[in-house]
Order: sequence, then C-alpha cells, then structure tokens
Amino acid sequence: MSTVKYRVAIIGCGRMGQQYAQAYTTYPDTEIVAIADNNPERRKVLGERFGVRALYGDVESLLGEVLPDIVAVVTPTKYMKDVVIACAEAGVKGISTEKPIAAVLADADEMVDTCARHGVVFAGGNLQRAMNEVQEAAQRIHAGEFGELVGASVHGFGGEISGGGCQHISVLRLFTNAEIDEVIAWGTPKEALAKDDDEGLIIHGKFHLTSGLECAVFGTSTPCRGVDVWSEDALVRWDWASPEIFKGYDEKGARVSINPKYASYPWREFGYLTGSIRSFLTAVAGDGHPWITGHDLRQALEVAIAAKLSARLGSVPVQLPLEDRSLSLFPRSYRWLGGDATGNPQSLEEAAGNQ
Ligand SMILES: NC(=O)c1ccc[n+]([C@@H]2O[C@H](COP(=O)([O-])OP(=O)(O)OC[C@H]3O[C@@H](n4cnc5c(N)ncnc54)[C@H](O)[C@@H]3O)[C@@H](O)[C@H]2O)c1
Repeated sequence: MSTVKYRVAIIGCGRMGQQYAQAYTTYPDTEIVAIADNNPERRKVLGERFGVRALYGDVESLLGEVLPDIVAVVTPTKYMKDVVIACAEAGVKGISTEKPIAAVLADADEMVDTCARHGVVFAGGNLQRAMNEVQEAAQRIHAGEFGELVGASVHGFGGEISGGGCQHISVLRLFTNAEIDEVIAWGTPKEALAKDDDEGLIIHGKFHLTSGLECAVFGTSTPCRGVDVWSEDALVRWDWASPEIFKGYDEKGARVSINPKYASYPWREFGYLTGSIRSFLTAVAGDGHPWITGHDLRQALEVAIAAKLSARLGSVPVQLPLEDRSLSLFPRSYRWLGGDATGNPQSLEEAAGNQ
C-alpha cells in the first residue's frame, strides 16, 4: 500500500453516501476532509459521526474552500451531472458517481466527456461489476479457462431497467468483453411503457453483441436474476453474489458446480463497494481503470433507453450507439430526487449510525 493519504469529499451523504463515508474513514490511505449535503440537520449529525468539520450545503461552497483529491458524488441522480462537472472543472483528480448516472443520454455524455477532457478518473460507484469475485471470474473467462463463450442471457432485467438494470448490463459487458450493438424488446404493462420513467416496466428481449453473441433477455426471474454466460462445457452465473461456476456434466447430463476458490481480500465488510473504491484509487494513482466507470454507466443507460424505445415502437430492432442523444429514461422518483423529496427521509437516528 502506498503512503499517500487521499483527501476525500462526499457530496450527498444520505443512506448510500454514508456507506461510502464508512469505507473511506476505514481505509488507511484515505481521509474524509469535507462533506456537502443540503439537509442541515443530517449534515450536522454526519459531521459528528465521521469526525468531519468542513461541512457545506452544496458543492460550490465546498469547492470554494477545499480541493479534495477524490470526490464521491452520491446525491440523487438529478443533481449528479452538475456536481460531477463542477468537480472536474475545479481540478479534482478522481470522481465517482452513482447509479443511474443520468436520465438524458446527452447529460451522461457530457459527464464522461468533461472528465476525459480534464484528465479526471471517472468511476461508477457501488455496482456488482466491481465485486472482487465478479472481476476474478471475468479474468478467468477472458484467459480462456472455460473455452470460448457461445451464449449469454440476462434474467430479471425488469422492474427498473435503468435504476437496477445497469447492474446486469455492466456484468454482461464485462463477462463477454463486448458491447451491445442491437436491442429488440417487448415491454409490459402498457401503462409503464407509456411513461417517461422505468418504474414497474418489465422488458423482455434480445441483445446482439459486437462479439457476435446473441443474448436472451428475461424481464422476470427464471428463477435466476442475473447474467449467465456459457461455453461448450462450462457456465458462469452471476446472480447478485459471487459468481457460481459450473464445469462439465455428471452421469445424468447435469452441470457440475465447482468450488471457484476466489482469492480473499481485505475490507470485505463493505461488499462490492470495496472493489469499486479500491480499483478507483489504484486508477487515480495511475494504474489501470476503475472496475466500474462512468462510461460503463453511460453504456447501461443507453441500452435501457434503447430497450424501452424498441418495445414502444412495436419491438423493432434498435441499433447502438443511439444517434439521438436527446433520448431519456428517468429512474423511479426516489432515485431521481432522493428520500427527502419523495416522502422517505432518512431519520437523524439512522444517519447517526444508530440503527
Ligand atoms: N449502488 C447502489 O446499490 C445504490 C443503492 C442505493 C442508492 N443508490 C443511488 O444513490 C443515490 C442516492 O441514494 P440514497 O439512497 O443515498 O438517497 P438519500 O435520499 O438517502 O440521500 C441523498 C442525500 O443527498 C442529499 N442531497 C440531495 N441533493 C443534494 C445536492 N444537490 N447536493 C448535496 N446533497 C444533496 C440529501 O440531503 C440526502 O442526504 C441515488 O442515485 C440512488 O439511485 C445506489
């Protein structure tokens, strides 16, 4: 471990932001130097809980006085673009965002492009793609341990295809090492398809990948809820946990589950947030890329938009990348606006870490 101590700010420190704050106060090479949150009572409680004195109501006031090395943007999605761009322009070295990254595709483009232009490492947040075991399974697939992939499927994609479906898309792209270049989809119920958000929309369909693979998409659980990829005699299954690996067949022709023997790693207590943050810090130090990036989240938003568009137009094949960058898909209101604005505020007791 390097002797550098990264100076970190958290912008938006509600339920999810506090998980970041907990991790960043635990890692020996990071310290939280400032928090911005626009809820004054919660802000005060958070300052006491995490031992931070530099507390601000918004990102502008924070950047006016502090230039952190790292900023974790964990506001509701509506505010992420402005915060990410303000931090990139102020000279922050590494910025992470949460899911979904945006509603309008052009906004996600602007976030990714602004970070690239300013040489900022732009990470994607608490996604299962960044789980150590998911990354290890992907490395083993890419190294050829299971032979060439011949199929892929997505399960349980429905419900909130932008808010939660970005988990599926990010793992699928990782395992297959390919982009989705065509989407055809069917959506129910009709009322959900007519709205401008993803709440309650169940999407079934098919993705075509740049590697040539076809991927079946099941909107509901099958009963799996994640991503399968398979070769002639092996199957790797991510189902919202460490991937299961099946290799070979028994005498009845059934797949045989093997012990994947994943490597152990420190700070497992923070789940896949550890893989997300540790790979992000390594990238800020100049080595590789975060295991989940802002670019990954942009790609996931684009696929979700394409899927809804295809279903709306009568299941037409939609080519990616989408030409019309003004297209959008809003997440459910809690993700878009946060708990305070949608009648589900976090109590001060909980913000203090007492629940
Ligand atoms: N990756 C995951 O597993 C996961 C899980 C939960 C939530 N999320 C995402 O994290 C984001 C936040 O969700 P949450 O559950 O923490 O919500 P929350 O409502 O609990 O917290 C949001 C916090 O941001 C603050 N805030 C709102 N606007 C702000 C602004 N402009 N500047 C500074 N602070 C601001 C609020 O005061 C609040 O404390 C959402 O986008 C959500 O989709 C991701």
